[in-house]
Amino acid sequence: MTKKVAIIGAGPSGLAQLRAFQSARENGEEIPEIVCFEKQSNWGGLWNYSWRTGLDEYGEPVHGSMYRYLWSNGPKEGLEFADYSFEEHFGKQIASYPPRAVLFDYIQGRVNKAGVRDWIRFNTAVRDVTFDNGKFTVKVHDLPNDKIYTEEFDNVIVASGHFSTPNVPHFDGFESFPGRVLHAHDFRDALEFENKNILIVGTSYSAEDIGSQCWKYGAKTITVSHRTAPMGHKWPENWEEVPLLTRMEGKTAHFKDGTSKEIDAVILCTGYQHHFPYLNDELRLKTANRLATADLYKGVAYVHNPALMYIGMQDQWFTFNMFDAQAWWARDVIMGKISCPDKSDMEADVIARVKAEDSGKDDYDAIWYQGDYIKELVAETDYPTFDVEGACNAFKEWKGHKKINIMTFRDNAYKSVITGTMAPKHHTPWKDAMDDSLEVYLQN
Ligand SMILES: Cc1cc2nc3c(=O)[nH]c(=O)nc-3n(C[C@H](O)[C@H](O)[C@H](O)COP(=O)(O)OP(=O)(O)OC[C@H]3O[C@@H](n4cnc5c(N)ncnc54)[C@H](O)[C@@H]3O)c2cc1C
Ligand SMILES: NC(=O)c1ccc[n+]([C@@H]2O[C@H](COP(=O)([O-])OP(=O)(O)OC[C@H]3O[C@@H](n4cnc5c(N)ncnc54)[C@H](OP(=O)(O)O)[C@@H]3O)[C@@H](O)[C@H]2O)c1
Repeated sequence: MTKKVAIIGAGPSGLAQLRAFQSARENGEEIPEIVCFEKQSNWGGLWNYSWRTGLDEYGEPVHGSMYRYLWSNGPKEGLEFADYSFEEHFGKQIASYPPRAVLFDYIQGRVNKAGVRDWIRFNTAVRDVTFDNGKFTVKVHDLPNDKIYTEEFDNVIVASGHFSTPNVPHFDGFESFPGRVLHAHDFRDALEFENKNILIVGTSYSAEDIGSQCWKYGAKTITVSHRTAPMGHKWPENWEEVPLLTRMEGKTAHFKDGTSKEIDAVILCTGYQHHFPYLNDELRLKTANRLATADLYKGVAYVHNPALMYIGMQDQWFTFNMFDAQAWWARDVIMGKISCPDKSDMEADVIARVKAEDSGKDDYDAIWYQGDYIKELVAETDYPTFDVEGACNAFKEWKGHKKINIMTFRDNAYKSVITGTMAPKHHTPWKDAMDDSLEVYLQN
């Protein structure tokens, strides 16, 4: 095997790709030469917490969008690696909604065991990728040594994530608002908003979770403004949902229904952009944040050039196990075990997936749609099969628990679909658990 493969990013998707190749090697197969470029100094992607916002020490945009006290927003039973269970990592079963530090530890446990750290060039930002004569030329910047160099590859796997570059709409009056306006990407610590009246724009997971964090850590009021529809949970007393913000006048926020409210800070939870500044038009994925992305055959191979693959570009109910299913599949295409059909068939595959997603009527259909997608990919490789249906059911229960009480759903426990054991109930209700450290979480 003389092929050489570049992986861009060492977050959960890039690490899944490294583990996929390493597992083939472990099985005695000859694998390509792998080089993973990671612009941060450590692996873990978004799970590698950064206190920084804006630009980093080298002037690079800070990748991190996670914040202090972040706990998993879905049950861990929906994301468990099929080849590396929570019990294997922690030596015991743990509660179902681990804080960031616990999941970071779990992610790195598998790749430490696999021994793939040497395959990663840290502090190395990919600047440009071009394709010519069957080869990719990748230009990278070795940040500490301030050296730019290029290298040739047969395949490129883009695993640089899509929840880092914020989507930042403008609202009239922001220019003269005498408080802080920030995007969720730059939110780091809810304590900053203690005793403040905060306005959140957006109604998805960042809005729900950042609002909940601010509530937990003592914000005075939380007002959530929606463009399409309110979230509709049973919120605490100091929380209200209002129509879309129309303008700010001084500290007063005006909403579409003519109501207004005095506000101290605005947090835009308005989502992220698929942003690949290192890819030109021919290679760059342009897609909405959805389950069936544009232009990716089987959700992975770029239809205009299947030597280029993308991992983790979908909107995500499933995360780590879906990245695994994709990474194993991408590996097998690169190693010649799976072949991609001609372009028209790949395009037909994309159209069919979009249609199937669009025919779903609600979130439950979306969960099962993504579950079926994982099953489809897993069936084509040697990734360990697991009870995807069981994971879908954990998500279904999770949604039910959120409906009962949005501030207590994280106090529930679910059964592992990998080991079959039930998670213990966490020792402290989420709303009272102020210490989110690994040591305290594991005290069950
Ligand atoms: C606030 C927040 C909370 C979340 N919470 C959960 C949760 O509770 N549970 C869950 O399952 N998922 C959660 N997610 C979803 C998250 O997308 C996935 O868990 C996961 O991190 C995606 O992995 P990834 O590797 O695709 O991308 P990322 O984690 O974004 O990693 C991409 C990597 O690529 C690197 N990179 C980017 N550009 C370059 C470049 N030019 N050159 C070199 N390297 C580059 C980055 O530094 C980064 O390390 C959350 C997302 C956000 C934003
Ligand atoms: N672990 C955790 O607890 C946690 C916390 C935060 C985030 N996350 C993860 O982070 C990822 C991203 O979630 P996200 O909530 O940031 O993004 P998202 O799911 O893409 O949602 C974007 C939101 O912004 C709104 N929006 C976009 N443009 C707008 C505009 N111009 N005006 C008003 N509203 C606008 C959208 O409203 P419409 O519905 O009207 O389009 C939508 O509600 C998800 O995978 C999520 O699971 C997890």
